[in-house]
Amino acid sequence: MGEEMQKDIIALTDLSKFFGSYHALRGINATIREGEFFSLLGPSGCGKTTLLRMIAGFETPTSGGIAIDGKPMEGISANQRPTNMVFQSYAIFPHLNVAENVGYGLVTRKVPKAEIATEVSRALAMVDLAGYADRAAHELSGGQRQRVALARALVMRPKVVLLDEPLSALDKKLRDQMQVELRELQQSLGITFILVTHDQEEALIMSDRIAVMFEGEIAQLASPEDLYRRPASKRVASFIGVMNFLEARIKAVKGDIIRLNIPALGDIEISRSGLAPELDLDRVRSVGVRPEMLTIAFDDAETFEQTVEGEIAGTSYYGDMTYYSVQLQGQADPVTISMRNTAGRSIAKPGSKVRIGWGAESLVLFDSD
Ligand SMILES: Nc1ncnc2c1ncn2[C@@H]1O[C@H](COP(=O)(O)OP(=O)(O)O)[C@@H](O)[C@H]1O
Ligand SMILES: [Mg+2]
Repeated sequence: MGEEMQKDIIALTDLSKFFGSYHALRGINATIREGEFFSLLGPSGCGKTTLLRMIAGFETPTSGGIAIDGKPMEGISANQRPTNMVFQSYAIFPHLNVAENVGYGLVTRKVPKAEIATEVSRALAMVDLAGYADRAAHELSGGQRQRVALARALVMRPKVVLLDEPLSALDKKLRDQMQVELRELQQSLGITFILVTHDQEEALIMSDRIAVMFEGEIAQLASPEDLYRRPASKRVASFIGVMNFLEARIKAVKGDIIRLNIPALGDIEISRSGLAPELDLDRVRSVGVRPEMLTIAFDDAETFEQTVEGEIAGTSYYGDMTYYSVQLQGQADPVTISMRNTAGRSIAKPGSKVRIGWGAESLVLFDSD
């Protein structure tokens, strides 16, 4: 979908929530675009569920506003909002069959029977469960149950589907499969999904954009790729994937170019994009580099923009990949380097001296230490 086609469907403005004296949400500002898969990602207790429940109308903001489709939601109850919540897979009613589970919300709204039957069939077809209307809920697999829970939300024709850790009760294999299914379904329906998750990998796989939350605040809102490649802080960088942090000192700033000294890597020039305008010279800072942006030069002929010597301190073998812990001179903690395993190459042994290749464009300089 082109950027110009996307309109905002939800606007969150200065949202704040107190539970007694506890400040659970501290000034949330964000817009969610129509048709996007949006995730709220953060550690347990950071306020994700509170924010989702507030959008749904189950929780009232202490201050600030929520607008959905241009309409302020103040005083609008949950069942009058164009949103619908999907709970964890076991939240379907075990004593009802699939059609009864899916039609439940329409029954409570006193929709005529014939219309319920039509809407239920439509919702079941959407989640690829067309032949399952009469099946007992307890006969379903975990993945099918998850799709029933989703159909139960979709039958209400919501503009926004809200999902609070919907896959966390599933085992890993099924969860991986459901992540892909849910993402594909969302794309084919074109309905806005907002997912709450504490699992960074899940958020990266599924989302168009992610709001990373810590302690009631959004630390960064960006696409998965931008979050991974250009984390706004060390805290975000550590939460998303693995990041090596190296000490760095700013030697000079010339226009858009910063000259840095990194004891472990040497002198380097990088572009200053995204950094605060104030750059104190000689202050010690952190530079981040991802494990796959460093390369162990197993092949002597391979050339790199920059190289440095190191010694292998340890290895973790993952089958397709090996994570090497490598000691560099001038750096107290070893760095982590990930290498894809290839047919002809055995795993390097601890104690081996290796050449490490790297490039300046893979470094992220952080504003704070
Ligand atoms: N109804 C409530 N009363 C008091 N404290 C609450 C209530 N709901 C949530 N909290 C607190 O607010 C914080 C955020 O909770 P929550 O939104 O559930 O976090 P998350 O979903 O990110 O794990 C937690 O410290 C939690 O204990
Ligand atoms: Mg929660």
